[in-house]
Amino acid sequence: MTDIAMHGHGVRGMKRETLHSFDGIGDPGKFGKMFPHLLPLHADDEALFELAKAMRDKGQPGENPDTSGDNQKIPAGYTYLGQFIDHDITLDTTPLDQQKADPKATQNFRTPALDLDSLYGDGPAIHPYLYQRDQDTFKIVPKLLIGRTGESPDQNGNQIPSQPNDLPRNQVGHALIFDERNDENLLVAQLHLLMLKFHNAVVDWLKDGGSTLQGTALFLEARRIVTWHYQWIVLFDFVERLTEPGLINRIKKDGRRFYRFKLRPYMPAEFAAACYRLGHSMIRETYSHNRVFGPEPGTFANGTLGLLFFFTGKSGKIVGELAPEPPEPPPSPQKQLPSNWAIDWRRFFDIEGEGGPDFGFNFSRKLDPFIAPSLHKLPGLRSDPTEQEEREANLAFRNLRRGVQIGLPSGQAICRAMNIEPMTPEEVAAGSDGAAAKKHGLHEATPLWYYVLKEAEHYHQGQRLGPMASTIVAETFLGMVHGDTESFPWRRSNWKPELPCQQDGHFTMADLIRFVNDINPVGP
Ligand code: HEM
Repeated sequence: MTDIAMHGHGVRGMKRETLHSFDGIGDPGKFGKMFPHLLPLHADDEALFELAKAMRDKGQPGENPDTSGDNQKIPAGYTYLGQFIDHDITLDTTPLDQQKADPKATQNFRTPALDLDSLYGDGPAIHPYLYQRDQDTFKIVPKLLIGRTGESPDQNGNQIPSQPNDLPRNQVGHALIFDERNDENLLVAQLHLLMLKFHNAVVDWLKDGGSTLQGTALFLEARRIVTWHYQWIVLFDFVERLTEPGLINRIKKDGRRFYRFKLRPYMPAEFAAACYRLGHSMIRETYSHNRVFGPEPGTFANGTLGLLFFFTGKSGKIVGELAPEPPEPPPSPQKQLPSNWAIDWRRFFDIEGEGGPDFGFNFSRKLDPFIAPSLHKLPGLRSDPTEQEEREANLAFRNLRRGVQIGLPSGQAICRAMNIEPMTPEEVAAGSDGAAAKKHGLHEATPLWYYVLKEAEHYHQGQRLGPMASTIVAETFLGMVHGDTESFPWRRSNWKPELPCQQDGHFTMADLIRFVNDINPVGP
């Protein structure tokens, strides 16, 4: 069953005893709880599995989802930006011996920060393998390495040439990136690549603008610009879309009330094990990747979730329910991705002026209690599984059980602690999923992750988070930025994005993609 242990993006192996609480005297260490004094919710695996099974989106694995479940307010690219961000904030490079020496994670650990260490590692001096070299002098230059795709055909038999559209890879196909979780599926991998290109474009922009900076100084300045624009996007483009309107600015002005620490931010269990797993509900069963792979007639194959996981440098390893039949012609395993896999960003972010009626746009799925069918059977499940194996392969069950394992309180208890009126038991019990919760009394004391999704559905028809989850998510992201002494709020509190943007002083993912200017490598 080890294959089923797909990357949980960072809290892997987190044990209950690592969850120190914030006692008001010191910071809790790496992980902690926002509400340490609330009682944990107890629920047995049977009840959780029944609820998990009721949290299944309509349709079958590989089938296009019905459009009524689409969230027209959030393009699908933000789902995987969310995953990229998760990998950034949960990356822990602490050597194993240090982890063992400090099992409660109270010292010597990196703090969660939006600092793009997943991109830069510890910089060119410590991790030179991530960086380019000057062909003549062999000196490291301040740009990040980019890989090339291999020539491959489109559905009309025309060859799409090799292009700089893959992660850099070694001879056996492993991505040369600082966090290999970003090679886990095509979209997160292409987003990582986009960020590599963003850094390189900023270096060029500085030079073209007449900057006299060289070497390390040029690298540091480009890194600052990239990181601050990314932090802006996370707060004012990504979190702003997910949470209640204006909340980010309100908390920025009035201060955080629940995510508190003295010096160093910690990773709140309520966020990592429940609220921020909101992304699992946004995942679509199928995508329109580009003109070659999508649901439109005449493409090579539909962009199923299975292919999304098959289409990475790890192809061949992740074959199972999510990747049933490798499509022809892509060969497997890959040492370099074929050119025809490169993402057409116009289909994933609202890049005004680039769109048109003749291609498929992907919305994320609604923030509601329904999870894509394929995620109820993660790869690696045997054809004749035991019930225990089936549970382990069900992402909804895994999330619910993780909450219980680490002692999270119910959604209602957290609402009361935050002075927010919880949903009534009748409201939680609504729908077929609610009925499964009610059968086990979970409509009165509700697992936090399920409550978060139910709240989004109840208050905002699944278009954004409800009041409790909005506050936890917004406070956590703001806290991470406030706790990072290199972040823009620390260094220059009135800083505004300096790169070109469509709306003055507000930089979005669409602006970033336009700036990189490689919007649709596969061609129209
Ligand atoms: C197809 C895409 C994804 C898959 C297959 C996936 C799968 C998983 C799995 C298997 C776990 C570990 C579950 C456990 O045993 O506790 C996990 C954890 C988690 N996932 Fe995902 N996930 C995906 C996308 C996302 C997205 C888009 C987000 C957020 C926007 C997200 C946020 C998280 C968080 C916060 C955790 C727990 C914390 C951590 O370990 O980092 N995931 N995911």
